Amino acid sequence: MDYPQLNGKSRGDVVALLDEWITSESLKRHCLAVETAMRAYAEHFNEDTDAWGTVGLIHDFDYERHPSADQHPVEGARVLSSQGYPEWLIDAVLSHADYLDVPRDTRLKQTLYAVDELSGFVAAVALVRPSRRIADVKVSSVMKKLKDKRFAEAVDRDAIMEGAKALGVDLDDHVKMVIQAFAWNAEALGLAGDSDSNT
Ligand SMILES: [Fe+2]
Ligand SMILES: [Fe+2]
Repeated sequence: MDYPQLNGKSRGDVVALLDEWITSESLKRHCLAVETAMRAYAEHFNEDTDAWGTVGLIHDFDYERHPSADQHPVEGARVLSSQGYPEWLIDAVLSHADYLDVPRDTRLKQTLYAVDELSGFVAAVALVRPSRRIADVKVSSVMKKLKDKRFAEAVDRDAIMEGAKALGVDLDDHVKMVIQAFAWNAEALGLAGDSDSNT
């Protein structure tokens, strides 16, 4: 699939949008984490890393102001449209919400859905380790914690399983891909270990 244009939008424009709309550090980190995973998958699938990264970075920008299912991400989509973001990007953002029933008919959409819930989960696994370092997280410990229903219980395991299946990736490989992507961008994601916890 071709993503010819972001209609002139740069990563800086999206970061400014996030700064305007999000005060929560954890939500910002979630957006960055999903961007990071999307970039890794774009590289893996030989797709446009900027296009995929932008979708990841922007997908929850309206969530703090509009957290309810009747508003998120529909309200955000209206804002993106009024600001001139391209239709394909808005369609991808809308597709991450199960309740909107927007078909996830592209690899871009399938990847966004597959990494969204898993991103928070993998970060949570890193943060309960004594070192708080993503680089110390093993695939096997993520798999184990997925089975432990009391760990990060708000994370929807079914969405993770179904996301990987729809993308056609093995869950182990999928988890590995996300860990490796986060390790690459650990400082920005607050997952580089104790030394970065005050920054
Ligand atoms: Fe969302
Ligand atoms: Fe999200």
